[in-house]
Amino acid sequence: MSQPPKQAGLELRRLLPFLAFGLVLTGSVLTLSATKVAGLDENNCLSCHDNPELIKTTADGKRISLHVSEEALSKGAHRYIDCTTCHTSEPHKTDTPLTKLSLAQKCGSCHQYQYKLHLESIHGQQLIQGNPDVATCIDCHSPVGNPHSVIRVLEYNAPTYKKNIAQTCGQCHGNEKLMANYGVVEKVYESYMRSFHGKAMQLGTYEVTQLDKATCTNCHGVHDIKSASDPTSPVAGLNNLANTCEQCHPNAGTNFASGFLGHKEASPENIPVAHYTEILFTTLLISVVSFGAIVVIMAIIRFSANKWRE
Ligand code: HEC
Ligand code: HEC
Ligand code: HEC
Ligand code: HEC
Ligand code: HEC
Ligand code: HEC
Ligand code: HEC
Repeated sequence: MSQPPKQAGLELRRLLPFLAFGLVLTGSVLTLSATKVAGLDENNCLSCHDNPELIKTTADGKRISLHVSEEALSKGAHRYIDCTTCHTSEPHKTDTPLTKLSLAQKCGSCHQYQYKLHLESIHGQQLIQGNPDVATCIDCHSPVGNPHSVIRVLEYNAPTYKKNIAQTCGQCHGNEKLMANYGVVEKVYESYMRSFHGKAMQLGTYEVTQLDKATCTNCHGVHDIKSASDPTSPVAGLNNLANTCEQCHPNAGTNFASGFLGHKEASPENIPVAHYTEILFTTLLISVVSFGAIVVIMAIIRFSANKWRE
Protein backbone atom coordinates (compact mmCIF):
# COMPACT_ATOMS: atom_id res chain seq x y z
CA MET A 1 0.00 0.00 0.00
CA SER A 2 2.88 2.36 0.86
CA GLN A 3 4.49 1.66 -2.50
CA PRO A 4 3.42 4.76 -4.40
CA PRO A 5 4.50 7.39 -1.82
CA LYS A 6 7.86 5.64 -1.39
CA GLN A 7 8.43 5.80 -5.10
CA ALA A 8 7.52 9.50 -5.16
CA GLY A 9 10.11 10.13 -2.44
CA LEU A 10 12.72 8.27 -4.44
CA GLU A 11 11.85 10.30 -7.54
CA LEU A 12 12.27 13.54 -5.61
CA ARG A 13 15.66 12.45 -4.23
CA ARG A 14 16.80 11.61 -7.73
CA LEU A 15 15.61 14.98 -8.98
CA LEU A 16 17.34 16.91 -6.19
CA PRO A 17 20.79 17.18 -7.83
CA PHE A 18 19.12 18.44 -11.01
CA LEU A 19 17.09 20.98 -9.05
CA ALA A 20 20.24 22.20 -7.28
CA PHE A 21 22.06 22.41 -10.61
CA GLY A 22 19.18 24.42 -12.11
CA LEU A 23 19.26 26.81 -9.17
CA VAL A 24 23.01 27.38 -9.52
CA LEU A 25 22.59 27.91 -13.25
CA THR A 26 19.83 30.51 -12.83
CA GLY A 27 21.87 32.19 -10.13
CA SER A 28 24.96 32.45 -12.26
CA VAL A 29 22.98 33.73 -15.27
CA LEU A 30 21.48 36.42 -13.05
CA THR A 31 24.86 37.36 -11.58
CA LEU A 32 26.41 37.39 -15.03
CA SER A 33 23.80 39.77 -16.40
CA ALA A 34 24.17 41.89 -13.28
CA THR A 35 27.94 42.18 -13.78
CA LYS A 36 27.24 43.05 -17.40
CA VAL A 37 25.24 46.11 -16.36
CA ALA A 38 27.75 47.10 -13.70
CA GLY A 39 30.47 46.52 -16.30
CA LEU A 40 29.96 49.96 -17.72
CA ASP A 41 31.62 51.43 -14.63
CA GLU A 42 34.73 49.29 -14.42
CA ASN A 43 36.74 52.11 -12.80
CA ASN A 44 34.22 53.05 -10.13
CA CYS A 45 33.76 56.49 -11.62
CA LEU A 46 30.26 56.59 -10.16
CA SER A 47 31.64 56.48 -6.63
CA CYS A 48 32.08 60.23 -7.11
CA HIS A 49 29.92 61.04 -10.15
CA ASP A 50 26.68 59.52 -8.85
CA ASN A 51 26.63 62.46 -6.45
CA PRO A 52 24.01 65.03 -7.57
CA GLU A 53 25.98 67.78 -5.86
CA LEU A 54 29.18 67.28 -7.88
CA ILE A 55 29.61 70.56 -9.76
CA LYS A 56 32.36 72.14 -11.81
CA THR A 57 32.76 75.90 -12.01
CA THR A 58 34.23 77.04 -15.32
CA ALA A 59 36.65 79.95 -15.76
CA ASP A 60 33.75 82.26 -16.66
CA GLY A 61 31.83 81.30 -13.54
CA LYS A 62 29.33 78.91 -15.11
CA ARG A 63 28.31 76.01 -12.87
CA ILE A 64 28.02 72.66 -14.67
CA SER A 65 26.62 69.58 -13.01
CA LEU A 66 28.95 66.57 -13.21
CA HIS A 67 26.29 64.24 -11.89
CA VAL A 68 25.86 61.00 -13.84
CA SER A 69 22.72 59.13 -12.88
CA GLU A 70 23.40 55.41 -12.70
CA GLU A 71 19.70 54.72 -13.06
CA ALA A 72 19.32 56.72 -16.28
CA LEU A 73 22.55 55.26 -17.61
CA SER A 74 21.44 51.67 -17.15
CA LYS A 75 18.26 52.29 -19.17
CA GLY A 76 20.07 54.00 -22.03
CA ALA A 77 21.39 52.94 -25.43
CA HIS A 78 24.99 52.95 -24.16
CA ARG A 79 24.52 50.84 -21.03
CA TYR A 80 27.11 48.30 -22.17
CA ILE A 81 29.79 50.89 -22.92
CA ASP A 82 32.26 51.71 -20.16
CA CYS A 83 32.83 55.35 -19.12
CA THR A 84 36.42 55.27 -20.26
CA THR A 85 35.50 54.22 -23.81
CA CYS A 86 33.94 57.65 -24.25
CA HIS A 87 36.09 59.58 -21.77
CA THR A 88 39.57 57.97 -22.07
CA SER A 89 41.21 56.36 -19.08
CA GLU A 90 42.36 59.74 -17.85
CA PRO A 91 39.26 61.90 -18.09
CA HIS A 92 40.56 64.50 -15.62
CA LYS A 93 43.64 65.32 -17.68
CA THR A 94 41.61 67.14 -20.30
CA ASP A 95 39.53 70.20 -19.59
CA THR A 96 36.54 70.14 -21.93
CA PRO A 97 34.38 73.25 -22.35
CA LEU A 98 31.28 71.02 -21.92
CA THR A 99 29.28 72.94 -24.51
CA LYS A 100 26.71 71.67 -27.00
CA LEU A 101 29.43 71.68 -29.65
CA SER A 102 31.99 69.70 -27.65
CA LEU A 103 29.21 67.26 -26.84
CA ALA A 104 28.29 66.77 -30.50
CA GLN A 105 31.97 66.24 -31.31
CA LYS A 106 32.21 63.48 -28.72
CA CYS A 107 29.05 61.73 -29.96
CA GLY A 108 30.37 62.22 -33.48
CA SER A 109 33.64 60.47 -32.70
CA CYS A 110 31.65 57.22 -32.93
CA HIS A 111 28.54 58.22 -34.94
CA GLN A 112 30.47 59.88 -37.74
CA TYR A 113 27.76 59.60 -40.39
CA GLN A 114 25.08 61.35 -38.31
CA TYR A 115 27.62 63.91 -37.08
CA LYS A 116 28.68 64.88 -40.60
CA LEU A 117 25.07 65.37 -41.72
CA HIS A 118 24.28 67.29 -38.54
CA LEU A 119 27.15 69.75 -39.07
CA GLU A 120 25.81 70.60 -42.52
CA SER A 121 22.23 71.08 -41.26
CA ILE A 122 20.76 74.43 -40.21
CA HIS A 123 21.03 73.33 -36.59
CA GLY A 124 24.69 72.24 -36.95
CA GLN A 125 25.70 75.32 -38.90
CA GLN A 126 24.47 77.50 -36.04
CA LEU A 127 26.08 75.19 -33.50
CA ILE A 128 29.51 75.70 -35.07
CA GLN A 129 28.99 79.42 -34.61
CA GLY A 130 28.43 78.82 -30.91
CA ASN A 131 24.65 79.24 -30.86
CA PRO A 132 23.32 77.20 -27.89
CA ASP A 133 19.63 77.62 -28.91
CA VAL A 134 19.69 75.08 -31.72
CA ALA A 135 19.16 71.34 -31.53
CA THR A 136 22.07 68.99 -31.12
CA CYS A 137 22.26 65.23 -30.48
CA ILE A 138 20.83 65.10 -26.97
CA ASP A 139 18.00 67.59 -27.64
CA CYS A 140 16.51 64.91 -29.89
CA HIS A 141 17.88 61.73 -28.31
CA SER A 142 17.50 62.20 -24.57
CA PRO A 143 14.18 62.97 -22.91
CA VAL A 144 16.05 64.98 -20.27
CA GLY A 145 18.77 66.51 -22.45
CA ASN A 146 21.60 64.53 -20.88
CA PRO A 147 24.42 62.70 -22.69
CA HIS A 148 24.05 59.72 -20.33
CA SER A 149 20.38 59.09 -20.97
CA VAL A 150 20.30 58.59 -24.73
CA ILE A 151 17.48 56.22 -25.64
CA ARG A 152 17.38 53.81 -28.60
CA VAL A 153 15.48 55.42 -31.45
CA LEU A 154 12.70 52.84 -31.71
CA GLU A 155 11.71 52.67 -28.05
CA TYR A 156 8.19 54.01 -27.42
CA ASN A 157 9.43 56.60 -24.94
CA ALA A 158 12.29 57.81 -27.17
CA PRO A 159 11.99 61.42 -28.33
CA THR A 160 12.83 60.05 -31.78
CA TYR A 161 9.98 57.53 -31.85
CA LYS A 162 7.80 58.69 -34.72
CA LYS A 163 4.75 59.45 -32.59
CA ASN A 164 6.85 61.69 -30.31
CA ILE A 165 8.83 63.59 -32.93
CA ALA A 166 6.48 66.58 -33.30
CA GLN A 167 6.68 67.17 -29.53
CA THR A 168 10.48 66.86 -29.65
CA CYS A 169 10.74 69.57 -32.31
CA GLY A 170 7.94 71.47 -30.58
CA GLN A 171 10.09 72.02 -27.46
CA CYS A 172 11.78 74.76 -29.46
CA HIS A 173 9.60 75.26 -32.52
CA GLY A 174 6.50 75.65 -30.39
CA ASN A 175 8.25 78.40 -28.41
CA GLU A 176 7.11 81.62 -30.10
CA LYS A 177 9.56 83.89 -28.30
CA LEU A 178 12.57 81.76 -29.17
CA MET A 179 11.51 81.45 -32.81
CA ALA A 180 10.84 85.19 -33.18
CA ASN A 181 14.55 85.76 -32.48
CA TYR A 182 15.24 83.94 -35.74
CA GLY A 183 12.47 85.56 -37.76
CA VAL A 184 10.43 82.34 -37.82
CA VAL A 185 6.93 83.68 -37.21
CA GLU A 186 4.85 80.81 -38.58
CA LYS A 187 3.38 78.70 -35.80
CA VAL A 188 4.76 75.49 -37.25
CA TYR A 189 3.96 73.20 -34.32
CA GLU A 190 0.38 74.38 -33.92
CA SER A 191 -0.33 74.32 -37.63
CA TYR A 192 1.10 70.81 -37.91
CA MET A 193 -1.07 69.59 -35.02
CA ARG A 194 -4.10 71.14 -36.75
CA SER A 195 -3.28 69.48 -40.08
CA PHE A 196 -4.67 66.16 -41.26
CA HIS A 197 -1.31 64.46 -40.69
CA GLY A 198 -0.95 65.86 -37.17
CA LYS A 199 -4.48 64.96 -36.10
CA ALA A 200 -4.25 61.45 -37.54
CA MET A 201 -0.91 60.93 -35.81
CA GLN A 202 -2.35 62.09 -32.49
CA LEU A 203 -5.41 59.86 -32.78
CA GLY A 204 -3.37 56.81 -33.77
CA THR A 205 -1.79 54.43 -31.28
CA TYR A 206 1.92 53.71 -30.84
CA GLU A 207 1.77 50.76 -33.27
CA VAL A 208 4.05 51.14 -36.28
CA THR A 209 1.13 50.49 -38.63
CA GLN A 210 -0.64 53.59 -37.27
CA LEU A 211 2.38 55.79 -37.86
CA ASP A 212 2.35 55.98 -41.65
CA LYS A 213 1.34 59.67 -41.67
CA ALA A 214 3.85 62.46 -42.19
CA THR A 215 5.62 64.02 -39.23
CA CYS A 216 8.16 66.87 -39.21
CA THR A 217 11.12 64.70 -40.22
CA ASN A 218 9.31 63.12 -43.20
CA CYS A 219 9.12 66.56 -44.81
CA HIS A 220 12.26 68.24 -43.41
CA GLY A 221 14.77 65.42 -42.98
CA VAL A 222 16.42 64.21 -39.79
CA HIS A 223 20.10 64.99 -39.33
CA ASP A 224 20.21 67.05 -42.52
CA ILE A 225 17.41 69.57 -41.82
CA LYS A 226 17.81 72.67 -43.98
CA SER A 227 16.30 76.14 -43.83
CA ALA A 228 12.99 76.15 -45.72
CA SER A 229 14.46 78.85 -47.97
CA ASP A 230 17.53 76.76 -48.85
CA PRO A 231 16.95 75.50 -52.42
CA THR A 232 18.21 72.03 -51.42
CA SER A 233 15.57 71.68 -48.69
CA PRO A 234 13.00 68.95 -49.41
CA VAL A 235 10.25 71.53 -48.84
CA ALA A 236 11.73 74.33 -51.00
CA GLY A 237 10.02 74.87 -54.34
CA LEU A 238 7.15 72.91 -55.84
CA ASN A 239 9.33 70.21 -57.44
CA ASN A 240 11.15 69.29 -54.24
CA LEU A 241 7.91 69.45 -52.29
CA ALA A 242 6.14 67.17 -54.78
CA ASN A 243 8.97 64.63 -54.46
CA THR A 244 8.55 64.79 -50.70
CA CYS A 245 4.80 64.10 -50.86
CA GLU A 246 5.43 61.30 -53.37
CA GLN A 247 7.27 59.26 -50.73
CA CYS A 248 3.79 58.37 -49.49
CA HIS A 249 1.30 59.76 -52.02
CA PRO A 250 2.30 58.00 -55.25
CA ASN A 251 2.17 60.19 -58.38
CA ALA A 252 1.16 63.21 -56.28
CA GLY A 253 2.86 65.62 -58.69
CA THR A 254 3.21 69.37 -58.38
CA ASN A 255 -0.54 69.89 -58.62
CA PHE A 256 -1.16 67.96 -55.40
CA ALA A 257 1.76 69.70 -53.70
CA SER A 258 0.61 73.17 -54.78
CA GLY A 259 -2.59 72.71 -52.77
CA PHE A 260 -0.52 72.42 -49.60
CA LEU A 261 -0.30 75.59 -47.51
CA GLY A 262 2.73 74.50 -45.51
CA HIS A 263 2.47 76.10 -42.09
CA LYS A 264 1.13 79.36 -43.42
CA GLU A 265 -1.98 80.87 -41.97
CA ALA A 266 -4.24 82.18 -44.68
CA SER A 267 -4.51 86.02 -44.73
CA PRO A 268 -5.34 88.68 -47.37
CA GLU A 269 -1.63 89.03 -48.28
CA ASN A 270 -0.82 85.37 -47.87
CA ILE A 271 -2.86 82.94 -49.97
CA PRO A 272 -5.87 85.28 -50.44
CA VAL A 273 -7.98 82.57 -52.10
CA ALA A 274 -7.81 80.33 -49.04
CA HIS A 275 -8.31 83.33 -46.78
CA TYR A 276 -11.49 84.51 -48.55
CA THR A 277 -12.81 80.96 -48.92
CA GLU A 278 -12.43 80.60 -45.17
CA ILE A 279 -14.35 83.86 -44.60
CA LEU A 280 -17.02 82.81 -47.09
CA PHE A 281 -17.55 79.49 -45.37
CA THR A 282 -17.60 81.06 -41.92
CA THR A 283 -20.20 83.62 -43.10
CA LEU A 284 -22.26 80.90 -44.75
CA LEU A 285 -22.15 78.77 -41.62
CA ILE A 286 -23.20 81.66 -39.39
CA SER A 287 -26.08 82.64 -41.74
CA VAL A 288 -27.38 79.09 -42.00
CA VAL A 289 -27.31 78.63 -38.24
CA SER A 290 -28.92 82.03 -37.57
CA PHE A 291 -31.62 81.40 -40.20
CA GLY A 292 -32.41 78.07 -38.54
CA ALA A 293 -32.56 79.75 -35.15
CA ILE A 294 -34.94 82.47 -36.42
CA VAL A 295 -37.25 79.87 -37.96
CA VAL A 296 -37.38 77.95 -34.68
CA ILE A 297 -38.01 81.10 -32.62
CA MET A 298 -40.80 82.21 -35.00
CA ALA A 299 -42.39 78.77 -34.73
CA ILE A 300 -42.29 78.93 -30.93
CA ILE A 301 -43.84 82.41 -30.95
CA ARG A 302 -46.61 81.34 -33.32
CA PHE A 303 -47.24 78.20 -31.25
CA SER A 304 -47.50 80.21 -28.01
CA ALA A 305 -49.68 82.86 -29.66
CA ASN A 306 -52.08 80.15 -30.92
CA LYS A 307 -52.19 78.56 -27.45
CA TRP A 308 -52.88 81.93 -25.82
CA ARG A 309 -55.66 82.70 -28.34
CA GLU A 310 -57.30 79.34 -27.59
C1 HEC B 1 37.49 60.81 -6.52
C2 HEC B 1 36.29 61.28 -7.18
C3 HEC B 1 36.23 61.09 -8.70
C4 HEC B 1 36.36 59.90 -9.40
C5 HEC B 1 36.60 58.50 -8.88
C6 HEC B 1 36.17 60.26 -10.78
N1 HEC B 1 35.92 61.60 -10.90
FE1 HEC B 1 35.56 62.59 -12.64
N2 HEC B 1 35.58 64.38 -11.65
C7 HEC B 1 35.68 64.51 -10.30
C8 HEC B 1 35.69 65.94 -9.98
C9 HEC B 1 35.81 66.53 -8.56
C10 HEC B 1 35.61 66.63 -11.20
C11 HEC B 1 35.63 68.14 -11.41
C12 HEC B 1 37.04 68.58 -11.69
C13 HEC B 1 37.07 70.04 -12.05
O1 HEC B 1 36.44 70.83 -11.39
O2 HEC B 1 37.71 70.32 -13.07
C14 HEC B 1 35.51 65.62 -12.22
C15 HEC B 1 35.38 65.91 -13.58
C16 HEC B 1 35.10 64.94 -14.55
C17 HEC B 1 34.78 65.22 -15.92
C18 HEC B 1 34.68 66.59 -16.56
C19 HEC B 1 36.08 66.88 -17.06
C20 HEC B 1 36.22 68.21 -17.73
O3 HEC B 1 36.40 68.19 -18.93
O4 HEC B 1 36.17 69.22 -17.09
C21 HEC B 1 34.61 64.02 -16.56
C22 HEC B 1 34.26 63.79 -18.02
C23 HEC B 1 34.85 62.99 -15.57
N3 HEC B 1 35.13 63.57 -14.36
C24 HEC B 1 34.77 61.66 -15.84
C25 HEC B 1 35.20 60.66 -14.95
C26 HEC B 1 35.38 59.28 -15.31
C27 HEC B 1 35.12 58.68 -16.69
C28 HEC B 1 35.79 58.63 -14.19
C29 HEC B 1 36.18 57.17 -14.05
C30 HEC B 1 37.26 56.72 -14.91
C31 HEC B 1 35.87 59.62 -13.13
N4 HEC B 1 35.52 60.84 -13.63
C32 HEC B 1 36.21 59.33 -11.82
C33 HEC B 1 35.78 63.50 -9.36
C34 HEC B 1 35.97 62.16 -9.66
C1 HEC C 1 28.52 56.66 -25.00
C2 HEC C 1 29.48 57.60 -24.51
C3 HEC C 1 29.53 57.96 -23.05
C4 HEC C 1 29.58 57.10 -21.98
C5 HEC C 1 29.53 55.59 -21.98
C6 HEC C 1 29.74 57.94 -20.81
N1 HEC C 1 29.75 59.27 -21.16
FE1 HEC C 1 30.06 60.84 -19.95
N2 HEC C 1 29.73 62.12 -21.48
C7 HEC C 1 29.56 61.75 -22.80
C8 HEC C 1 29.37 62.94 -23.60
C9 HEC C 1 29.12 62.98 -25.10
C10 HEC C 1 29.47 64.05 -22.72
C11 HEC C 1 29.41 65.53 -23.06
C12 HEC C 1 30.83 66.01 -23.24
C13 HEC C 1 30.93 67.46 -23.60
O1 HEC C 1 29.97 68.20 -23.39
O2 HEC C 1 31.97 67.84 -24.09
C14 HEC C 1 29.70 63.50 -21.40
C15 HEC C 1 29.87 64.27 -20.26
C16 HEC C 1 30.25 63.77 -19.03
C17 HEC C 1 30.51 64.57 -17.85
C18 HEC C 1 30.41 66.08 -17.77
C19 HEC C 1 29.06 66.48 -17.25
C20 HEC C 1 27.96 66.33 -18.25
O3 HEC C 1 26.96 65.66 -17.91
O4 HEC C 1 28.04 66.87 -19.36
C21 HEC C 1 30.84 63.68 -16.86
C22 HEC C 1 31.20 64.03 -15.43
C23 HEC C 1 30.79 62.34 -17.40
N3 HEC C 1 30.41 62.43 -18.73
C24 HEC C 1 31.04 61.20 -16.69
C25 HEC C 1 30.78 59.90 -17.14
C26 HEC C 1 30.83 58.72 -16.31
C27 HEC C 1 31.23 58.70 -14.88
C28 HEC C 1 30.47 57.67 -17.10
C29 HEC C 1 30.33 56.19 -16.73
C30 HEC C 1 29.43 55.90 -15.64
C31 HEC C 1 30.22 58.20 -18.44
N4 HEC C 1 30.38 59.55 -18.41
C32 HEC C 1 29.85 57.44 -19.53
C33 HEC C 1 29.54 60.47 -23.28
C34 HEC C 1 29.60 59.32 -22.52
C1 HEC D 1 16.70 67.39 -34.83
C2 HEC D 1 16.75 66.15 -34.10
C3 HEC D 1 17.99 65.29 -34.14
C4 HEC D 1 19.28 65.69 -33.92
C5 HEC D 1 19.80 67.09 -33.67
C6 HEC D 1 20.09 64.50 -33.98
N1 HEC D 1 19.31 63.40 -34.22
FE1 HEC D 1 19.94 61.47 -34.42
N2 HEC D 1 18.06 60.91 -34.96
C7 HEC D 1 16.94 61.73 -34.93
C8 HEC D 1 15.78 60.95 -35.35
C9 HEC D 1 14.36 61.49 -35.47
C10 HEC D 1 16.24 59.64 -35.62
C11 HEC D 1 15.43 58.44 -36.10
C12 HEC D 1 15.69 58.35 -37.57
C13 HEC D 1 14.68 57.65 -38.35
O1 HEC D 1 13.65 57.29 -37.84
O2 HEC D 1 14.97 57.50 -39.55
C14 HEC D 1 17.68 59.64 -35.36
C15 HEC D 1 18.53 58.53 -35.51
C16 HEC D 1 19.82 58.46 -35.01
C17 HEC D 1 20.65 57.25 -34.91
C18 HEC D 1 20.22 55.85 -35.29
C19 HEC D 1 20.69 55.50 -36.69
C20 HEC D 1 20.00 56.32 -37.73
O3 HEC D 1 20.69 57.15 -38.38
O4 HEC D 1 18.78 56.20 -37.90
C21 HEC D 1 21.86 57.62 -34.38
C22 HEC D 1 23.05 56.73 -34.09
C23 HEC D 1 21.80 59.06 -34.15
N3 HEC D 1 20.58 59.54 -34.55
C24 HEC D 1 22.84 59.81 -33.61
C25 HEC D 1 22.85 61.20 -33.57
C26 HEC D 1 24.02 61.99 -33.22
C27 HEC D 1 25.36 61.45 -32.85
C28 HEC D 1 23.65 63.30 -33.28
C29 HEC D 1 24.49 64.54 -33.08
C30 HEC D 1 25.68 64.67 -33.89
C31 HEC D 1 22.23 63.33 -33.66
N4 HEC D 1 21.79 62.04 -33.83
C32 HEC D 1 21.47 64.48 -33.80
C33 HEC D 1 16.90 63.06 -34.58
C34 HEC D 1 18.01 63.85 -34.34
C1 HEC E 1 32.35 55.10 -27.90
C2 HEC E 1 31.50 55.28 -29.04
C3 HEC E 1 30.16 55.99 -28.86
C4 HEC E 1 29.95 57.29 -28.44
C5 HEC E 1 30.97 58.31 -28.00
C6 HEC E 1 28.52 57.50 -28.54
N1 HEC E 1 27.89 56.37 -29.00
FE1 HEC E 1 25.92 56.14 -29.44
N2 HEC E 1 26.18 54.18 -29.73
C7 HEC E 1 27.40 53.53 -29.76
C8 HEC E 1 27.17 52.10 -29.97
C9 HEC E 1 28.24 51.03 -30.06
C10 HEC E 1 25.76 51.93 -30.05
C11 HEC E 1 24.98 50.62 -30.25
C12 HEC E 1 24.62 50.09 -28.88
C13 HEC E 1 23.76 48.86 -28.94
O1 HEC E 1 23.14 48.61 -29.95
O2 HEC E 1 23.67 48.18 -27.90
C14 HEC E 1 25.17 53.26 -29.91
C15 HEC E 1 23.81 53.52 -29.97
C16 HEC E 1 23.28 54.80 -30.07
C17 HEC E 1 21.90 55.12 -30.38
C18 HEC E 1 20.79 54.11 -30.60
C19 HEC E 1 20.71 53.77 -32.07
C20 HEC E 1 19.54 52.92 -32.41
O3 HEC E 1 19.63 52.23 -33.43
O4 HEC E 1 18.52 52.97 -31.71
C21 HEC E 1 21.78 56.47 -30.39
C22 HEC E 1 20.53 57.29 -30.67
C23 HEC E 1 23.08 57.01 -30.06
N3 HEC E 1 23.96 55.97 -29.88
C24 HEC E 1 23.35 58.36 -29.93
C25 HEC E 1 24.50 58.85 -29.35
C26 HEC E 1 24.66 60.19 -28.83
C27 HEC E 1 23.60 61.26 -28.87
C28 HEC E 1 25.92 60.27 -28.33
C29 HEC E 1 26.55 61.44 -27.58
C30 HEC E 1 25.87 61.83 -26.35
C31 HEC E 1 26.58 58.99 -28.55
N4 HEC E 1 25.67 58.15 -29.14
C32 HEC E 1 27.90 58.69 -28.22
C33 HEC E 1 28.64 54.12 -29.62
C34 HEC E 1 28.86 55.42 -29.19
C1 HEC F 1 3.71 67.66 -44.97
C2 HEC F 1 5.00 68.33 -44.90
C3 HEC F 1 5.44 69.08 -43.64
C4 HEC F 1 5.35 68.64 -42.34
C5 HEC F 1 4.72 67.37 -41.81
C6 HEC F 1 6.01 69.65 -41.55
N1 HEC F 1 6.45 70.66 -42.34
FE1 HEC F 1 7.54 72.28 -41.77
N2 HEC F 1 7.42 73.07 -43.62
C7 HEC F 1 6.85 72.45 -44.72
C8 HEC F 1 6.85 73.37 -45.86
C9 HEC F 1 6.28 73.09 -47.23
C10 HEC F 1 7.47 74.57 -45.42
C11 HEC F 1 7.74 75.85 -46.24
C12 HEC F 1 6.49 76.67 -46.36
C13 HEC F 1 6.16 77.34 -45.08
O1 HEC F 1 7.03 78.01 -44.54
O2 HEC F 1 5.04 77.15 -44.60
C14 HEC F 1 7.83 74.35 -44.01
C15 HEC F 1 8.47 75.27 -43.20
C16 HEC F 1 8.93 75.02 -41.91
C17 HEC F 1 9.74 75.92 -41.10
C18 HEC F 1 10.21 77.32 -41.53
C19 HEC F 1 9.10 78.31 -41.28
C20 HEC F 1 9.50 79.75 -41.57
O3 HEC F 1 8.70 80.62 -41.21
O4 HEC F 1 10.60 79.98 -42.07
C21 HEC F 1 9.97 75.31 -39.91
C22 HEC F 1 10.77 75.85 -38.74
C23 HEC F 1 9.28 74.03 -39.95
N3 HEC F 1 8.66 73.89 -41.17
C24 HEC F 1 9.28 73.11 -38.90
C25 HEC F 1 8.41 72.02 -38.84
C26 HEC F 1 8.13 71.26 -37.65
C27 HEC F 1 8.77 71.50 -36.30
C28 HEC F 1 7.23 70.29 -38.00
C29 HEC F 1 6.56 69.27 -37.09
C30 HEC F 1 5.90 69.79 -35.91
C31 HEC F 1 6.96 70.43 -39.42
N4 HEC F 1 7.68 71.50 -39.88
C32 HEC F 1 6.14 69.58 -40.17
C33 HEC F 1 6.36 71.16 -44.75
C34 HEC F 1 6.11 70.37 -43.64
C1 HEC G 1 16.79 72.74 -28.96
C2 HEC G 1 15.88 73.48 -29.83
C3 HEC G 1 15.48 72.90 -31.18
C4 HEC G 1 14.97 71.63 -31.46
C5 HEC G 1 14.72 70.49 -30.49
C6 HEC G 1 14.71 71.62 -32.88
N1 HEC G 1 15.06 72.82 -33.45
FE1 HEC G 1 14.87 73.32 -35.41
N2 HEC G 1 15.76 75.12 -35.03
C7 HEC G 1 16.05 75.61 -33.77
C8 HEC G 1 16.51 76.98 -33.90
C9 HEC G 1 16.91 77.91 -32.75
C10 HEC G 1 16.48 77.30 -35.29
C11 HEC G 1 16.83 78.63 -35.94
C12 HEC G 1 18.15 78.60 -36.59
C13 HEC G 1 18.22 79.67 -37.63
O1 HEC G 1 17.20 79.98 -38.25
O2 HEC G 1 19.31 80.16 -37.86
C14 HEC G 1 16.01 76.10 -35.96
C15 HEC G 1 15.83 75.99 -37.33
C16 HEC G 1 15.07 75.00 -37.96
C17 HEC G 1 14.62 75.02 -39.35
C18 HEC G 1 14.92 76.09 -40.37
C19 HEC G 1 13.93 77.25 -40.21
C20 HEC G 1 14.01 78.20 -41.35
O3 HEC G 1 14.52 79.29 -41.16
O4 HEC G 1 13.56 77.85 -42.45
C21 HEC G 1 13.89 73.90 -39.56
C22 HEC G 1 13.18 73.49 -40.84
C23 HEC G 1 13.89 73.15 -38.30
N3 HEC G 1 14.62 73.85 -37.35
C24 HEC G 1 13.24 71.96 -38.12
C25 HEC G 1 13.32 71.20 -36.94
C26 HEC G 1 12.74 69.88 -36.80
C27 HEC G 1 11.97 69.15 -37.87
C28 HEC G 1 13.03 69.47 -35.53
C29 HEC G 1 12.68 68.15 -34.88
C30 HEC G 1 13.11 66.93 -35.56
C31 HEC G 1 13.76 70.54 -34.87
N4 HEC G 1 13.93 71.56 -35.76
C32 HEC G 1 14.20 70.51 -33.55
C33 HEC G 1 15.96 74.94 -32.58
C34 HEC G 1 15.52 73.63 -32.43
C1 HEC H 1 5.38 59.77 -44.44
C2 HEC H 1 4.31 59.67 -45.41
C3 HEC H 1 3.62 60.94 -45.89
C4 HEC H 1 4.17 62.06 -46.47
C5 HEC H 1 5.63 62.36 -46.71
C6 HEC H 1 3.06 62.91 -46.84
N1 HEC H 1 1.87 62.33 -46.47
FE1 HEC H 1 0.01 63.11 -46.71
N2 HEC H 1 -0.81 61.47 -45.81
C7 HEC H 1 -0.11 60.33 -45.44
C8 HEC H 1 -1.06 59.32 -44.99
C9 HEC H 1 -0.70 57.91 -44.52
C10 HEC H 1 -2.34 59.89 -45.10
C11 HEC H 1 -3.67 59.22 -44.77
C12 HEC H 1 -4.18 58.62 -46.03
C13 HEC H 1 -5.53 58.04 -45.84
O1 HEC H 1 -5.90 57.71 -44.73
O2 HEC H 1 -6.20 57.93 -46.88
C14 HEC H 1 -2.15 61.25 -45.62
C15 HEC H 1 -3.20 62.14 -45.90
C16 HEC H 1 -3.04 63.38 -46.53
C17 HEC H 1 -4.14 64.28 -46.86
C18 HEC H 1 -5.61 64.14 -46.49
C19 HEC H 1 -6.29 62.95 -47.04
C20 HEC H 1 -6.14 62.75 -48.51
O3 HEC H 1 -5.69 61.65 -48.92
O4 HEC H 1 -6.45 63.67 -49.28
C21 HEC H 1 -3.58 65.33 -47.54
C22 HEC H 1 -4.31 66.55 -48.11
C23 HEC H 1 -2.14 65.10 -47.60
N3 HEC H 1 -1.85 63.89 -46.98
C24 HEC H 1 -1.24 65.96 -48.20
C25 HEC H 1 0.13 65.76 -48.23
C26 HEC H 1 1.06 66.67 -48.87
C27 HEC H 1 0.65 67.93 -49.63
C28 HEC H 1 2.30 66.16 -48.68
C29 HEC H 1 3.64 66.74 -49.13
C30 HEC H 1 3.89 68.14 -48.72
C31 HEC H 1 2.16 64.93 -47.91
N4 HEC H 1 0.82 64.72 -47.65
C32 HEC H 1 3.21 64.13 -47.48
C33 HEC H 1 1.25 60.17 -45.44
C34 HEC H 1 2.17 61.11 -45.90
